[in-house]
Amino acid sequence: MPAKTITNLPVDALTLAQARKEHVRLGLEISAHDKRYYQDDAPTVTDAEYDALRRRYNDIETRFPDLRTFESLSVKVGAAPARGFTKVRHAVPMLSLDNAFADADVSDFVGRIRRFLRLADDDEIVFSAEPKIDGLSMSLRYEKGELVTAATRGDGAEGEDVTANVRTLEDVPKTLHGRDVPEVCEVRGEVYMTKQAFLALNEQQKAAGEKIFANPRNSAAGSLRQKDPSVTASRPLGFFAYAWGEMSQMPAATQSGMIRWFEACGFMTNPLTKACRSTQALVAFHREIEETRAELAYDIDGVVYKVDRLDWQERLGFVSRTPRWAIAHKFPAERALTILKDIEIQVGRTGVLTPVGKLDPVGVGGVIVQNVTLHNEDYIKGIGGKGETLREGRDLRIGDTVVVQRAGDVIPQIVDVVIDKRPSDAEPYEFPKVCLCHLHTEIVREETATGDEGARARCTGEFACPYQKIEHLRHFVSRNAFDIEGFGDEYVQMFFDVGLIESPVDIFRLHEKSASLREAVLERRKALSKAREERLGRKVKKEIAEEKRTFKEIDNLLAAIEVRRKILLDRFIFALGIRHVGEATARALAKHFTNANSMLEAIDEASRQRPGREWFEISGIDQIGPAAREKLLASITKYSGPQLDLDFEGDAVLRTAKLNVRQIENLRSHFRTDRALVEALRAASRQRPGEHYRALADDSDIGEVATNALIEFFGAEYNRGIVQGLLNELEIEPIERSTSESLVSGKTVVFTGSLERMTRPEAKATAERLGAKVSGSVSSRTDYVVAGPGAGSKLKDAQKHGVRVLSEEEWLRMIAVE
Ligand code: IVH
Repeated sequence: MPAKTITNLPVDALTLAQARKEHVRLGLEISAHDKRYYQDDAPTVTDAEYDALRRRYNDIETRFPDLRTFESLSVKVGAAPARGFTKVRHAVPMLSLDNAFADADVSDFVGRIRRFLRLADDDEIVFSAEPKIDGLSMSLRYEKGELVTAATRGDGAEGEDVTANVRTLEDVPKTLHGRDVPEVCEVRGEVYMTKQAFLALNEQQKAAGEKIFANPRNSAAGSLRQKDPSVTASRPLGFFAYAWGEMSQMPAATQSGMIRWFEACGFMTNPLTKACRSTQALVAFHREIEETRAELAYDIDGVVYKVDRLDWQERLGFVSRTPRWAIAHKFPAERALTILKDIEIQVGRTGVLTPVGKLDPVGVGGVIVQNVTLHNEDYIKGIGGKGETLREGRDLRIGDTVVVQRAGDVIPQIVDVVIDKRPSDAEPYEFPKVCLCHLHTEIVREETATGDEGARARCTGEFACPYQKIEHLRHFVSRNAFDIEGFGDEYVQMFFDVGLIESPVDIFRLHEKSASLREAVLERRKALSKAREERLGRKVKKEIAEEKRTFKEIDNLLAAIEVRRKILLDRFIFALGIRHVGEATARALAKHFTNANSMLEAIDEASRQRPGREWFEISGIDQIGPAAREKLLASITKYSGPQLDLDFEGDAVLRTAKLNVRQIENLRSHFRTDRALVEALRAASRQRPGEHYRALADDSDIGEVATNALIEFFGAEYNRGIVQGLLNELEIEPIERSTSESLVSGKTVVFTGSLERMTRPEAKATAERLGAKVSGSVSSRTDYVVAGPGAGSKLKDAQKHGVRVLSEEEWLRMIAVE
């Protein structure tokens, strides 16, 4: 394949014909990368890889200058603006910087300047050295001191008008302060997002099922490219000023003077900016900033050196797309290539099997990475959470060369695999079908609630699976659960290993085994200190003192366990480590029931009244919430005459249920025929859950998912045995349901409109029980108006008096707080 050989040939060895071909190929490739980077905020290559392509492209043009036409990429910057925003022509083009990678590139840069300016060897050049912020450049145009336009770089000549969005940035003054502000000022700099804000934003995006950003730069770009400025306003973006475009007058004669002027005008400038007077000082600055890079709040990808004197900048001018007076000294990429040596499976407390990639240790962005999460089975295959492809669908195999990335403080990820380097005998990875535990329990795939983590594999062994056993124990003694002082991981592991504890019940029987306990701990400590002595070649501690200390520790531990024989119901429930039952759910359950036995009875009852498959099928349809489902089931009961034509009935049911168009569409596309829909509804209506099930599932703090998990957990004999064992050992106390401390006690509340989750008398009774006064009319003395659909004059009155209006949901949430 001749094309392949050209790409590998050094530029020096290319013939003109080959160079022409290679120039075109590189041009297309670079343009495609530019589009992905600038327009889609979704680059597919590392900066270093991109820079290498650019370098080769430029080298070809240097050797064959005829190839450099006005179409050449070396005279264009970036890519054309993305569609959807008005274009703005920059009064002065927004250019780019040439890159230096090695220290020698820096001395070449300084040498070039010296020669160009005909300076003597001992003439001093002052440079302004600044961090190179990894955000996106922005040009802010002020006329008569007022911000008139904010534009992105775009292709350098034309950018996108993002004024409305940029106005929401705190760091961007809307008016320039200070005297002598020139008539026209274009202030340029970088919009960025801090690493912390980026992580928080991704968390939010993930919870909302929205796009996840690859790095802070992309999230800053995505945040600016919003149609609705209030979205931008909700994203924490910063701005550093460091350059300028058109200026009707220059307020300073140096780069550093301009920076001071920006500050006087109310801009943020980068505090690490420093004057450097020699190549050595520049290189030292680069090293210094690289060392602090990880601690900075924002991402940087290098440093920039600029000749400080503006008259010299003017004389030096530009070479095609980059200034002769400045250079970016880049940091090595925060991506690295390494080998995926193995894939190990970890079993978590809830039995989830997580594959972990074992890497040949590699340095990425200042840390050594050797383990990397591979999330789940689909991720390894190249399938993302919502079925999208990852790594363009390439799977991961043991032996593969992989690209590891660490963006900011994000946990390392494998972002790509180099297929060309795949060993010929590498097999697709086989995800285990059974748990690694000795039970070899079957693995089930389950979708996560949000679907964005893809399907996780779970061991079905629960408490019986040894992996889950030890994790259950760790969780049980942890701070928010039983909070047994001194019962750290070391003890859990040690006692588990020697068979002293297997289930939480054993913890409360440890006092009967204090002798074996002492022995186990001493043995272990001795073994450890022996190993240490061997390593150090000398004795470390007197055994007597060691023994005393150990005995004391164990006595304390046993005492700490005794203290916890009395436990609040919510902690007890949380400690069981039931799936989907976190602290909030545990508290809600504890509020519902005064003791564990009544909870168990209620769950058993709920289990008998649990709805069947068809009922869940209907609830699982997009847009069909509990309210719509109830309407449907009510209307099918009305039309249940077998004499009716099923197709006709379908229509009638949907009409009486008064659903919206989307809901009807979704139902019809799910069931395909009205007949199937009616049959499913009939089946579902026969399986409607009873009140015990609903009491739990309809409680907004418990919900259907947790209710099902509770039913499954307490339905398993093994778990039930453990719970019974614990109940025999413990004294479980109800949690306080105080009325005097309720958030609404002493407040005046008005209910208006129709309430969906409670009747009016119920609402009144609950509010009064919590110490609130319920009134029929709104005045300035009213504290809250709870308004349901159809609320009218009282809602208006509330607005008139400035009374806080709550939805029914908000009210329920408010009174659910302890
Ligand atoms: S000066 C004539 N200073 O890097 C070029 N640029 O690769 C003026 N950047 O487009 C740019 N920090 O987006 C300059 N302290 C800094 C910078 C900086 C980040 C970005 C900017 C520019 C790109 C050039």
